[in-house]
Amino acid sequence: MENQLDGMDITNLRKTADALEREKNNLRRILEAIPEGVCIIDANGRIEYANPAIQNEFGPYDGRKCYDYLRRKCGSCAWCQTADTQEGVKMMRTEFTPPDTEKTYDIIDIPFQKDDGSMSKLKLIRDVTEQIKAHDILKKDKEAVEQLAREKTEELSQVKSALDEAKRLSDIGTLAATVSHELRNPLGVIRAAVYNINRKNTNPALEKNLFNIEKKIQESEQIINNLLFYTRIKKPNFEKINLFDLLEECFDSAKKRFSGKIEADVSLNIHSLHDFILSADPFQLREVFNNIINNAFQSLETGRGRIDAFGEVDSETNMVRVHISDSGVGIGPEDLKKVFDPFFTNKSKGTGLGLTICRDLIGMHNGSVEIKSAKGQGTTVSVILPYEKNTDH
Ligand SMILES: Nc1ncnc2c1ncn2[C@@H]1O[C@H](COP(=O)(O)OP(=O)(O)OP(=O)(O)O)[C@@H](O)[C@H]1O
Ligand SMILES: [Mg+2]
Repeated sequence: MENQLDGMDITNLRKTADALEREKNNLRRILEAIPEGVCIIDANGRIEYANPAIQNEFGPYDGRKCYDYLRRKCGSCAWCQTADTQEGVKMMRTEFTPPDTEKTYDIIDIPFQKDDGSMSKLKLIRDVTEQIKAHDILKKDKEAVEQLAREKTEELSQVKSALDEAKRLSDIGTLAATVSHELRNPLGVIRAAVYNINRKNTNPALEKNLFNIEKKIQESEQIINNLLFYTRIKKPNFEKINLFDLLEECFDSAKKRFSGKIEADVSLNIHSLHDFILSADPFQLREVFNNIINNAFQSLETGRGRIDAFGEVDSETNMVRVHISDSGVGIGPEDLKKVFDPFFTNKSKGTGLGLTICRDLIGMHNGSVEIKSAKGQGTTVSVILPYEKNTDH
């Protein structure tokens, strides 16, 4: 009876031992199979066990201390330091980059009590280098996208302001064109009436008044022409033109226009433009230089002064530049910001469209107009135009 009992106990014991062995093997296989590193460290920091994933990453661990093995001799980790000095340490998660590597590991330290009551540590280690790189790239991309969005929003608001301004100017332009057009007929009638009165007039006192009326009609017509020109700017009609001849012609007619009123000492230093042929609209370019030269003459408020023109061909940038300088009244910084604005004028008879027209016409030639000036120190206006090598020059 006793033997039978003994026999049954032995059989049960074997079964239990087999089951335990199976459990142990299962656990070992799990530890060997998982791609994350798992290791057990005793209370003195010595590695008791490290699964293959850790050994593949850090090499064999035999008998080494955890900070020597995992942290490449860079001292014990925060968890170990805390664990040594404090009771009841809880799980801790850290990110760690060993020296001389570009890898980053996510480390989870878990306190773990062994059967004999001593404290061990279970360490779970995961290589998160790629994840961090991907996160960094994503962060940079996000920042770049946000920056682009900010830039585009800013651009959009600038375009909107420009559109609002264009709409405002277009409304002003339409109004100006309508009013100018309507004023032309009555002015024509007044001109004809003055002509008829003048023909029949024998009173010399009246003659002076009629002359003044005619002068004012002429000035009004000039303003109307400027306004109409501005509202009817067309695309340039490109032709081969000789810039030297065109400039000489503009200065000659300006000298005649201002003769007796403003005596300017004009000097043309434009020899480098001799034989320079440019593709441009001759009518529009004449309009541009006439406006700039008019302004230069008008700036000589004392009735005397200097006007210098300087021409240069820059074969490196394929740009031709014409600078027109005067020794006139100059422009203060506040006004300088507005000189290209339509209808900005300081002159009693000006429309304030001269420089606006210049900028628009030169813009349509893919060039630019620059202006440098200081109050009381004269002004230089530069017209910069592109030219095509071989064909233009
Ligand atoms: N060379 C210059 N010297 C001093 N001021 C100038 C000169 N050129 C332009 N300005 C200033 O810029 C303003 C605008 O010039 P812009 O040619 O556009 O119009 P305007 O000459 O006043 O009128 P408009 O040309 O229509 O007769 C002028 O009123 C003047 O105050
Ligand atoms: Mg002008």
